[in-house]
Amino acid sequence: MNSWANVGMDLHLELPRGIGVKAALLQGLRDAIDSGGLKPGTRLPPSRSLAVDLGVSRNTVADCYTELAHAGWLITRQGSGTVVASRADAKAGDARGITQSPSKPPEQEPPRSALSFIPGSPDVSSFPRAQWISSARRSLTSAPNDAFSATDPRGRIELRTALSSYLGRTRGVRTDPEHIVVCASSGHGLTLIARVLQETVAVDAYGLHLHRDLLAAEGIRTVPILVDESGTCTEQLASTQAKVALLTPTHQFPLGGPLIPSRRRTALDWASNSGGIVIEDDYDGEFRYDRKPVGALQAIAPQHVAYMGTVSKTLSPAIRIGWMVLPDRLIEPVLALKGPYERWVSATDQLTLADFIDSGRFDAHIRKMRTTYRRRRNQLVDTLEHRLPDVRITGISAGLHAVIQVPRGTEGAILSAADGLGLDLVGISTFRHPDAPPAGIDGIVVGYSTPTPSRYSDALERLCTAMESVL
Ligand SMILES: Cc1ncc(COP(=O)(O)O)c(C=O)c1O
Repeated sequence: MNSWANVGMDLHLELPRGIGVKAALLQGLRDAIDSGGLKPGTRLPPSRSLAVDLGVSRNTVADCYTELAHAGWLITRQGSGTVVASRADAKAGDARGITQSPSKPPEQEPPRSALSFIPGSPDVSSFPRAQWISSARRSLTSAPNDAFSATDPRGRIELRTALSSYLGRTRGVRTDPEHIVVCASSGHGLTLIARVLQETVAVDAYGLHLHRDLLAAEGIRTVPILVDESGTCTEQLASTQAKVALLTPTHQFPLGGPLIPSRRRTALDWASNSGGIVIEDDYDGEFRYDRKPVGALQAIAPQHVAYMGTVSKTLSPAIRIGWMVLPDRLIEPVLALKGPYERWVSATDQLTLADFIDSGRFDAHIRKMRTTYRRRRNQLVDTLEHRLPDVRITGISAGLHAVIQVPRGTEGAILSAADGLGLDLVGISTFRHPDAPPAGIDGIVVGYSTPTPSRYSDALERLCTAMESVL
């Protein structure tokens, strides 16, 4: 028999037939606990509501709860209802022929996070929980009813409006809400743009492998172009077959330099002469430490650049909100691909982010984190200078990671030594395009934003120890 409660709290039970009601309920509850359907700590419906749902007397349910509590299957506490006990308690109770006083529901061990300098994540322990909750409360309280029905694939107008002025103010992006399409992340945006364009994409010889993989999954070929400390060698674009270039002009990933002005111009000239598109991945443009923020390339040629941004670095990669600022010719095809309504990004999160931006909380959070990350970067530089004066560290003026250049042939050994010390590290070779010639450097890409504040110094100590053991 399938029973679904519709009052109080739902509970699905398979009750055996052909035995009395109480025996069936006892058996049904035990089976549900034994099979793992009802997990330790799960609260059961009040006896009154379960009785109504099952069409049995309240006493029958109450008796079953009491009996199962005595046998160690359940825990009943005055005022806090009935919860499922751990299965060890149930087995012990059964073995002893019931009567066992209930124990506390098991507390789950918090998973112990590994120490990691893998780039790609902000310090997630600094997520501004209280401010985010305030924005959620305020935006959802005042949202119109249509906010809770299927959403425009462009994204909520509140968010696009907030982004259009935020991006103009902070990154120099020239846009309006009509040219913005909300997506779940830069990766999602890249997939949509690539699917529309269906062209070979020029990518950095050293760049984010995830993006190359996404393009490959779409059947799109990528061709590598060289990178150096002045950014991507955009003068090579003209000699490729590519019609699209994926660049990180503000902060080349992973080497860290901004694209110098002459190369910016070269990239835009290539796009306007060839009818090509530059996809600008502005993944961490908010974090610049040493001088005025480098503006977006999009600002110079909005019709030749598809700009992508994300909250993955500024707030959290778990929120899943990114945005594209598109040239006219890409808007309709991208929207057509997205479909008639938004299937990816929660409208309530979009409203929350819109309020978070409009209220100034986003700026406040970024400013706070910029100070934190600058301090971490300084600590990294100072510690290396002191402990390993012969290594060179680059890409430090912006972003959330830096590159430690190490002698050729030592990268792998350093990674292994770090692994032995419980520190996850990644080397620069991970980011090399398979068709690109090795750059002739070995390096460790240190995502210094990743550890929580209390573990940062420990991670740094392990990094130095690992390097000292090899160099
Ligand atoms: C170069 C680059 N672009 C974009 C992102 C952010 O990606 P997403 O918005 O898909 O989370 C990252 C994250 O590590 C990155 O390294």
